[in-house]
Amino acid sequence: MNYTILKGNIVSSTALNQLEITENGYLVAADGIIQGVFATLPEAYEGHVVQDYRQKLIVQSFSDLHLHAPQYPMIGLGMDLPLLDWLNTYTFPLEARFADNDYARKIYRQLAQELIANGTTRVCMFSSLHREATLILMEELENAGVTGYVGKVNMDRNSGDVLQETTEQSMAETALWLEQCEKFEHIHPMITPRFTPSCSDELMAYLGKLAQEKNLPIQSHLSENDKEIAWVQELHPDCEQYWQSYAKYGLWNDKTVMAHCVWSDERERKAMKDAGVTVAFCANSNTNICSGVTPVRAMLNEGLQVGLGSDIAGGHQIEMHQVIASTIATSKHTTMTNGAPCLTVAEGWYLGTSGGSEFFGEQAGFAKGNPLHALVIDDSHLPQVDSVEARFERSIYRRQTGAITAVWSAGRKVLG
Ligand code: GUN
Ligand code: FE
Repeated sequence: MNYTILKGNIVSSTALNQLEITENGYLVAADGIIQGVFATLPEAYEGHVVQDYRQKLIVQSFSDLHLHAPQYPMIGLGMDLPLLDWLNTYTFPLEARFADNDYARKIYRQLAQELIANGTTRVCMFSSLHREATLILMEELENAGVTGYVGKVNMDRNSGDVLQETTEQSMAETALWLEQCEKFEHIHPMITPRFTPSCSDELMAYLGKLAQEKNLPIQSHLSENDKEIAWVQELHPDCEQYWQSYAKYGLWNDKTVMAHCVWSDERERKAMKDAGVTVAFCANSNTNICSGVTPVRAMLNEGLQVGLGSDIAGGHQIEMHQVIASTIATSKHTTMTNGAPCLTVAEGWYLGTSGGSEFFGEQAGFAKGNPLHALVIDDSHLPQVDSVEARFERSIYRRQTGAITAVWSAGRKVLG
């Protein structure tokens, strides 16, 4: 057995709105699997090396359930257009550049390192439609220590000359990509129709069949923007609601992540709940490209599975602690308009950590049996505050470069 024993002020998000704080406690993992959080070190572990982080905070690392790797170079740019114009004007031309493998290598290496430096160790990520660049992305994530899922994007209509693939190409390249990415240990494939307007019926049917045959997870976009929703209604007049354009092709089950769901009404949310679809709530992007305010409180009350997405580069922050702050902030917009209770700090944190990690099969918090995904936060350079809880809250809202001093991903130390 290989033991990892971390000592410090441990914060574990064990349920929505519940934080378990163990001051000067021990977080123990054996062969990368968490054994528990203890106030005093159990005898069984005595004699093994203890990594003593003293007053520092030891917290769960983040799950980013929705982001676009090839949009990394445009983070912080082009927020002046709504979704469909934004895609055509900025996004598609940039993604087209990932036909160049050297460019992909350079950008994706930087992205993978930035994710780890900011404590994101699990992702559901969109690549571009390029098979080779997608393999490069998976390799760079694997090497950096990021775990989770990546999708070669499928898009055979409505994206112009620069980025579109034919239906035949899309199917053949996806099949080949699935063969070629079997070699990765911590990064796995995810079926990724970009969104309904980007995929012909034939392609959707193929992807649904593939997902079912190979038991693969699925990700896409849902009910993000009013014009998008109206367009889907035109494209699929047989569907009363947007979600049905995925469901009718077998792209709607408990291994599915749908990003945004800003305008999902009670009926669409019930369809998510019934099928076990996970929502990736993308607060920054919903604001930046004027999509709307997700009814997150209603989703939680209704028992939906919800995680957070940075959605770079509709979102402008890759740092998930910032995304959590934005998530809480946008929930207050709902409070100000209709009185729904806003998210608490503990709830926002839960969504960015445990809520997302549920999709990867984990239990909430530093539960026994989870792979060790953790990070150490050093806030010693900030003015002193009284409690660990206050320091934890501040670590979401106010953090300085380099505050994350160590990161573990699936049991491996990947930073520090
Ligand atoms: N819908 C289809 N493609 C995209 C994308 O790249 N970003 C966002 N935010 N929505 C999308
Ligand atoms: Fe997106």
